[in-house]
Amino acid sequence: MSKGLWISFEGIDGAGKSTHIESLAKTFESQGRTITLTREPGGTVLAERLRELMLGTDMDPLSESLLAFAARRDHLNKVILPALNLGHVVLCDRFTDATFAYQGGGRGVSLAVLSQLESWVQEKTMEPSEHGKSDDSMGLWQPDLTLWFDLSPEVAASRLVQARTPDRFESQSVAFFERVQGAYAKRFELDPKRFLKIDASLTRHQVWQQITRGLTAKGWLSIMVPTPQASSQAS
Ligand code: TYD
Repeated sequence: MSKGLWISFEGIDGAGKSTHIESLAKTFESQGRTITLTREPGGTVLAERLRELMLGTDMDPLSESLLAFAARRDHLNKVILPALNLGHVVLCDRFTDATFAYQGGGRGVSLAVLSQLESWVQEKTMEPSEHGKSDDSMGLWQPDLTLWFDLSPEVAASRLVQARTPDRFESQSVAFFERVQGAYAKRFELDPKRFLKIDASLTRHQVWQQITRGLTAKGWLSIMVPTPQASSQAS
């Protein structure tokens, strides 16, 4: 059983999750927790190399999915699970929901194929010595909570106009992001208890309030906290 806490951050490009991940890391730290801040694809030497390939090379959507899950397996085994065992708060910028959203919704990979990959890569298996059997399934490794930054693709696109050089995904059409958004909504509907849905169209301060309220209600933050940086600024 893990002692730590695992939170992932999801949403279409331009939804504004990055600044809040950093703020949340500072806030947990100020409450005495040790943070592992990581991202997908990435988080290990191998997974960062696979990220470079995924974001920079043309390939078919199934190859993209296989690379995402190969990176995920390495990341889970080498970084996420060890950190949870040490009691860390693991803040992970994207996880498997992103593969369902981008490769599934955006690029049309069958959800059955993605579910199969998910179950191979994220399956929890019992130790034979502890439980007497080697093949019992205890379900899948998933974040304790996923913050979904919900934003319309039109607003996200207008925010991205000012951003840096886009990667392969950021340069896709609004129609692509409509499909990505739809796939996130479907993941949310299938397992709403795992998600905290954030209205990312509001000001940065209002988005931060939604996050801290949600985490305080779960008993994971002890008080309502102000934004570490300028709190009234719109995102
Ligand atoms: P992102 O997380 O937004 O990082 P940055 O802030 O550096 O742009 O970018 C990662 C991109 O990778 C994003 O466009 C979504 C995409 N992605 C997938 O297509 N599939 C996946 O499984 C994951 C984890 C990410």
